[in-house]
Amino acid sequence: FDNQLLTGKHVVITAGPTRESIDPVRYITNKSSGKMGFALAEAAAEAGAKVTLIAGPVYLPTPSRVERVDVIRAVDMYETCMDVVENGCDVFIATAAVADYRPTVTADHKIKKSTEEIHLTLVKNPDIVASVAEHAKRPFTVGFAAETQDVMAYAQGKLVNKKLDMIATNDVSGTNVGFNSDNNALTVIWPSGHKVLPLASKAQIAKQLIELIAIRYKD
Ligand code: C5P
Repeated sequence: FDNQLLTGKHVVITAGPTRESIDPVRYITNKSSGKMGFALAEAAAEAGAKVTLIAGPVYLPTPSRVERVDVIRAVDMYETCMDVVENGCDVFIATAAVADYRPTVTADHKIKKSTEEIHLTLVKNPDIVASVAEHAKRPFTVGFAAETQDVMAYAQGKLVNKKLDMIATNDVSGTNVGFNSDNNALTVIWPSGHKVLPLASKAQIAKQLIELIAIRYKD
């Protein structure tokens, strides 16, 4: 592994879930552990990059030589990412499992038990990686796609629709990869090709993906 691969480059990585409050004691979130994003931050730092890790609520130590910004809600992750991109960066990797929707209103007080059925209205969150890819100061933009079926087709669709330079996709229908696992297997797709990274530890997969990103970025 070449520790000069990304020397002088600023790599920004989102990781973990986001948390969307319903009331002061309840929220909507997902099963993301943040492990893949943190492993990528560590690998990018080892490759010589300046790394900014924008993390949702996770229980992981910050890798050495990585600048970490903690956020809770998708809208905060969006604002933080837009600021960093506005200031200029070279590579953006979106591993965060951003909540697609948030409650339209967050109650000021704990919602009381009442009728048999109550309704929660949700509103769409901004798509962070798609916004980064559309930015005037667009960095080399990499997305992730966790799918349970037709993995390649859905990932290809996201690559095009979100105007990404590369997408790393994993099949999360099995239990040995993806969410919370220490291992992962990825199929990485870019407009003119693809590469399979077979099952390995997230640390090993992260190094391979950082190498692949560095090669495509320099092209
Ligand atoms: O559309 P989907 O959520 O499957 O796309 C996954 C990719 O998009 C991931 O890279 C994820 O980090 C990113 N994403 C985002 N903002 C959202 C939703 C997804 O950056 N609101």
